[in-house]
Amino acid sequence: EKQGYEHFMLKEIFEQPKVLRDTVRGRISDDNSSVLLKDISLGREEIKKIKKLFITACGTAYHAGVVGKYVIEKLVRLPVEVDIASEYRYRDPIIDPDSLVIVISQSGETADTLAALREAHRKGARVIAVTNVVDSSIAREADDVIYTWAGPEIAVASTKAYTTQLIAMYLLALYFAEIRGTLQGSEINEILTSLRQVPGQVQEMLNDTAQIQDFAGQYARHENAFFIGRGLDYTVATEGALKLKEISYIHAEAYAAGELKHGTLALIVENMPVVALATQPALLEKMISNIKEVHARGASIIGVALEGIAEMEEVSEKVIYIPRTHPVLTSVLTVVPLQLLAYYMAVARGCDVDKPRNLAKAVTVE
Ligand code: M6R
Repeated sequence: EKQGYEHFMLKEIFEQPKVLRDTVRGRISDDNSSVLLKDISLGREEIKKIKKLFITACGTAYHAGVVGKYVIEKLVRLPVEVDIASEYRYRDPIIDPDSLVIVISQSGETADTLAALREAHRKGARVIAVTNVVDSSIAREADDVIYTWAGPEIAVASTKAYTTQLIAMYLLALYFAEIRGTLQGSEINEILTSLRQVPGQVQEMLNDTAQIQDFAGQYARHENAFFIGRGLDYTVATEGALKLKEISYIHAEAYAAGELKHGTLALIVENMPVVALATQPALLEKMISNIKEVHARGASIIGVALEGIAEMEEVSEKVIYIPRTHPVLTSVLTVVPLQLLAYYMAVARGCDVDKPRNLAKAVTVE
C-alpha cells in the first residue's frame, strides 16, 4: 500500500499537506479568531492557574516538544521545561499540582514516555497526551488527549507525525495564550490565519523536489554533516540531523550556530556539508555572521531561508527557499526539505530507508 511511492517514508512525507489539514480541522474558528480545543477538559480557570509546564517525550517527539517549549514560552509567557523521557523521572523533577505535564508520543506506547506520565501522576500533576494512536496506553492513562490525525506511520523514521505534533503545539499555545490573555486578539488572528495556510505551503514545497534530489546526490558520499541554526531554527536543525543519521547513517550534528566557535568549529573542514537554517528575521544578521565563520573554513553551505532573503545567496552554495509565514510557524515548513534531503541521501547510499538498522518503530523497553 505504498501507492506508487518507492518507500513508506516518501509516501508519508507527501501525505503531510493532508494530515496537517486533518489535524487543524475543527480546531480553529471559521473567522480565525480562536482555537477550539474541545479535546481537552481542562477548564479555563485551571489553565489560568498553571505555574509551570513540562513537556517530555523521546526522539522526534522530543524534538517537537522543544519547539513546543519555544512557542509556549514565547506566546504564553509560561515557563516550560522539556525533558527526554528516559531522563525525566531520574532527575526527580519538581512537579506539583500547579504543574501541567504534556507527553508527546506518535505510537502512544513508548515505555519511557509512559513511565514519565505515571511519574507526573504520582506527583499530582495533570497530564495532556499528544498522540497519534487512539486508545493507545498513553492515550488511556492521560487526563486529556490531543490527537494528531497523521494516520498510520509505517516508516521507522517519523515525518508526518512530527509535523502534526508541531501543529498540536501551536494550537495548544494559542489556546492558552487566549485564555491567559498573553496575546492580543489581532495577533492570535494573524497567527491562525497563517497557520491555515501552512498545509498548502507544504504542498508547494513538495511540488518541486528536483533541487533537493540534486543536492542529495552531490553530498551523499560524505560521512559527516552539520545542521546549524538559531532560535526556532536550531530546534528544527536537531530533527534534521536525527533524520539524516537514522536513515542514511551519515554522522550529523545539530549545533546552535552561535555555539560553534566554542569548540566545534575545529571540526569544520574543506567541503564539509553544513545545512544552515535562517528563517528567523530577528536572528538573521547574527546567523549570517555564523555562516560566514564556517564558510571561511571551506564548508559547503546549503542554506534554508525564507523567500526573499537575498543575503543568504552570498554565503551559501545553494539556497532552498521556504514560503513566507509568521516567524513562529516556520518549523513546519523548514523541516520538509530536511526530511527530503535525508530521504534522498539514504536512497543514494542504498540504505534500507523504511527499516534502518538496529531500530524499531515503537520502543517498548526502557
Ligand atoms: O512513538 P513515539 O513518538 O513515542 O516514538 C518516539 C521515538 O522513538 C521516535 O520519534 C523515533 O525517534 C523516530 N524513529 C525518529 O524518526
